Amino acid sequence: MSESTQQFEKRKMDHIRIALDPRSQAEGLSGLDDIQLIHEALPDFDFKEVDCSTSFFSHKLSAPFFISSMTAGHENAAIINSRLAELSANKQILMGVGSQRRELNDADACQEWKRVRAKAPRALLLGNLGISQIIGVSTAKIQAMIESLEAEALFVHLNPLQECLQPEGTPNFRGGYQAIEALVEKLSIPVIVKEVGCGFSQETLKKIYNLGVYAVDVSGLGGTHWGRVEGFRSQENAQLFQVAKTFENWGISTVQSLLNAKKLMKITQCGPLGACAMASKLVSY
Ligand SMILES: Cc1cc2nc3c(=O)[nH]c(=O)nc-3n(C[C@H](O)[C@H](O)[C@H](O)COP(=O)(O)O)c2cc1C
Repeated sequence: MSESTQQFEKRKMDHIRIALDPRSQAEGLSGLDDIQLIHEALPDFDFKEVDCSTSFFSHKLSAPFFISSMTAGHENAAIINSRLAELSANKQILMGVGSQRRELNDADACQEWKRVRAKAPRALLLGNLGISQIIGVSTAKIQAMIESLEAEALFVHLNPLQECLQPEGTPNFRGGYQAIEALVEKLSIPVIVKEVGCGFSQETLKKIYNLGVYAVDVSGLGGTHWGRVEGFRSQENAQLFQVAKTFENWGISTVQSLLNAKKLMKITQCGPLGACAMASKLVSY
């Protein structure tokens, strides 16, 4: 059964409300707590010279941080996204927009981003679509969508756990690799692949690297957990709630995902602008 606009908007607002609940965080599972940085008693440099700026194609960024893709398509989205876009413009950091899925079937949906863009013309925006959406959609349609946003790159999010647990989910990923490859070949901007909080195995990273994507945001286990979020949304459905509970710690930790990317970089010896920019260029925790 297809979702009505009202149901879509409620789902998006529920996601924000539930994600803010600390129980939606897979706290302590990122692996970062096990990492100890080595103290340097005599640093041979002047701290005033520390410069966090970096670049993304022709853009100079003030820091290697980015605002990860979040929300769109409901009454509170405009205010959230306008504020984030202004931050992106003022600080010159990248901002992933929330899923643009709706724009594929609703010509007016792009107006939301046009208004955000009007408020923050210098924001560095990255488009966003889920893997289930790009399978079977023409590249021309996606090209038009990213041109309308004036996007610097396109994020393709992979969220198999969420799609399987979400009552309205579309857990069809067959043809996903070919769909990404087609986008890499035909889109006018780089394609970046991301998870949404469950990380990547080395095998999957390798297959994605071979498609020629620009970067991967590993988005590993240890933060927002979509098994938990979708579980909380299904509290009236005892079976779904229980299944989601089984998967509440599912995923590959941030640290393990980074190590997987690092090992792959060593094996393939890819350069800094290849897909294995994963670990060194554009990695979010
Ligand atoms: C409310 C909310 C909505 C999100 N929506 C999207 C989305 O539309 N597209 C996407 O790629 N990721 C989405 N994400 C996932 C984030 O981009 C990120 O990958 C994930 O939350 C893990 O990072 P964290 O642990 O820092 O939250 C969303 C996250 C939150 C909290």
